[in-house]
Amino acid sequence: MAPGETPGRMLAIESSCDETAAAVVSISDLEVLSNVVATQIPIHARYGGVVPELASRSHLTALPQVVGQALDDAGCTIDDIDGVAVTQGPGLAGCLLVGFQFAKALAFSRQLPLVTVDHIQAHCFAVRLNDAEGAGERQPEYPFVALAVSGGHTSLYRVESPGHMVRLGQTLDDAAGEAFDKIAKMMGLPYPGGIHIDRMALSGDRAAHALPRPMLHKGLDFSFSGLKTAVRYALEAGTKPDADLAASAQEAIVDCLIAKSLRACKQEGLSDLVLAGGVACNSRLRSAVAERAGHVRVWLTPPRYCTDNAAMVGGLGAALFRQDNILTGPALLSADIYTTSRPSREGA
Ligand code: KG4
Ligand code: ZN
Repeated sequence: MAPGETPGRMLAIESSCDETAAAVVSISDLEVLSNVVATQIPIHARYGGVVPELASRSHLTALPQVVGQALDDAGCTIDDIDGVAVTQGPGLAGCLLVGFQFAKALAFSRQLPLVTVDHIQAHCFAVRLNDAEGAGERQPEYPFVALAVSGGHTSLYRVESPGHMVRLGQTLDDAAGEAFDKIAKMMGLPYPGGIHIDRMALSGDRAAHALPRPMLHKGLDFSFSGLKTAVRYALEAGTKPDADLAASAQEAIVDCLIAKSLRACKQEGLSDLVLAGGVACNSRLRSAVAERAGHVRVWLTPPRYCTDNAAMVGGLGAALFRQDNILTGPALLSADIYTTSRPSREGA
């Protein structure tokens, strides 16, 4: 890139769990130019959960093709790329290593800066992406409260800026997505079960079963293991794994997520709440939070940017690039998934 020229495009890579993803994002306006996700769900479905070694190997074989597709879809080549963003963590170590080494080698060989991105920060940033389908037309101002809720995480943050967020609360046991998936498994639904519970619950009675909402009236931490056990006992006692049970279990999870998120806004004196991560796709969570929010403005990440994707990594990568938060030369070469060069996520 010539001196003084505006940086154009960020190539992003995400491989922290079971999605191999690459995207191209415009650095100046955070427009998503391409967003390719190769899911490994069929590989892991027969085991009922992600098998880390199979996931790493699958990233290795899929990555070159996924990156090529992201460049093609954006109508560009590697020559048009000005920086490479990659997920540094958290995630499965073997999976992270594959994406990180790929990105590092690509950046070094093309003499491009590398931007290392925190996966959870990227989820919380995804609401700021914009695209031709209308994402990002209106956006929350910093600071805001974010609920990052996925298969691996359920945490509340005060988000100060693209590079800085402070944790306010977190799950003490299972993540909400894990609770959805485990309850679905007990009910005989396919993996990952969150979306199947969501669909089944549409025709169920949310009040059919009185299920626990652990710590609902206390603090900003979450706990879902008691709910999971209550569902197991109900099934063992002969309760049918039907729409009523799906709706009741989903309502218990949703009640906890919303109550804590609104409590966090009150505690922090903030009136913008962002919902991010795979569970933020849940249709009941999306409708109920809007009904209960009162004066709090709720910002729902578009579902295509809720589940794991590289556009969110490219978006945050672009914002960090603009802050000159980049790695080049020896710093790039010595970076790995354990270095703490990425910006802070206090309480992580
Ligand atoms: O963010 P994500 O793709 O990966 C992680 O970082 O974990 O989230 C995946 C999680 C899974 O637990 C999945 O069941 C859940 O998000 N999920 C849902 C829905 N769609 C995905 N949970 C409830 N309702 C949904 N519609
Ligand atoms: Zn995720």
